[in-house]
Amino acid sequence: MSRRSGIIPPGSTVGVLGSGQLGRMFAIAARRMGYRVHTLSPEYDTPTGQVADREVTAAYDDLDAVRAFARAVDVVTFEFENVSAAATAAAAEHAPVRPAGSVLHATQHRLREKGFLAGAGFPVAPFAPVRSLSDLERALATIGAPAVLKTAGWGYDGKGQAKIAATGEAAAAWAATGEQEAVLEAFVDFDREVSVVAARGLDGSFAHFGVIENRHQRHILDVSTAPAIVPPGVEREAVEIARGILEKLEVVGVLAVEMFLTRDGRLLVNELAPRPHNSGHLTFDACVTSQFEQQLRAICGLPLGSTELLRPAAMANLLGDLWAPGEPDWAAACAFPDVKLHLYGKAAARPGRKMGHLTAMAATPEEAMRKVLAAREALLSPSAAPA
Ligand SMILES: Nc1ncnc2c1ncn2[C@@H]1O[C@H](COP(=O)(O)OP(=O)(O)O)[C@@H](O)[C@H]1O
Ligand SMILES: [Mg+2]
Repeated sequence: MSRRSGIIPPGSTVGVLGSGQLGRMFAIAARRMGYRVHTLSPEYDTPTGQVADREVTAAYDDLDAVRAFARAVDVVTFEFENVSAAATAAAAEHAPVRPAGSVLHATQHRLREKGFLAGAGFPVAPFAPVRSLSDLERALATIGAPAVLKTAGWGYDGKGQAKIAATGEAAAAWAATGEQEAVLEAFVDFDREVSVVAARGLDGSFAHFGVIENRHQRHILDVSTAPAIVPPGVEREAVEIARGILEKLEVVGVLAVEMFLTRDGRLLVNELAPRPHNSGHLTFDACVTSQFEQQLRAICGLPLGSTELLRPAAMANLLGDLWAPGEPDWAAACAFPDVKLHLYGKAAARPGRKMGHLTAMAATPEEAMRKVLAAREALLSPSAAPA
């Protein structure tokens, strides 16, 4: 069909393992470019399934279902990180899996991820593996307090983490995280948190969305702004770290690198996400090519698109907590004419659950942040909206 080898052209079908908001926004980007999208997850009426051509409901470990899913598509990608190596291998029997299962394997387990990063010479905070309470006590003696204990598998939005303020709290932290394999990390007294969302094409080409600044609340991303206001040296270093990681892992697709910027100006890698990232949601409205279209281009062997930021932007997450007083006032947020509303189609608004986000654009990132926060405020108190 195409003269360029290896290209999966528009009209082809892309399979997404996972069915949350990342898959939904990927599917929107893919359908806009004329692709068909299938999604597989254990759930029905999912954020991705609602906008996909086909929603398959099966367990990720139902390898026959995964094989049948892969047979029906031209390329498989994922938006959910905890797909097992067995499942990605089963999919790979029938379609290319991009990024490869090896990338998922390295990044879905904090000890493997930290081991990879430290082994390859990327800067990370001091850490130690923990498999028992006595490991933890030994690790605390070396690393010192304060520290953070994180379960090796299945953590997200701060789940599976316990802060240890003093060495005497080891037993409580071990119990709080469920007495399972974990990593102990030094607590980083950071100045700021930043991320670099980047892509690597099938031909090894590289593109990045610059440095994005992230603020968390209760360990959940709250607001991101772009561009991050950091010294040019820090920006270059952050991008070079990201480039090095994508190359070392031979990523074909998108990968996000979360980093701490310490008070003395050093960058430390916190964690990796081998997929589009919450901090990159603002690229959907604010960049020539969004992180989702970039994922599509990369996995389909197309040239990567321009990551140019059209205007400084800010993104604010909408968590389920916003629904506590009743349905938010959507019209009040839409009264901000250059704020974009994104909702993920989730029925149950549980506290801490990511239900949607708002993006604002303005002349500066600070102004974009003020605007996006005002729009979010207006969801609860409509009198705050512009007349
Ligand atoms: N070692 C650390 N020092 C200081 N803050 C941390 C540390 N680890 C995590 N945090 C805080 O908790 C947030 C969530 O932790 P993270 O390791 O990114 O896990 P996840 O995003 O998978 O829940 C981070 O973005 C940061 O705000
Ligand atoms: Mg994180």
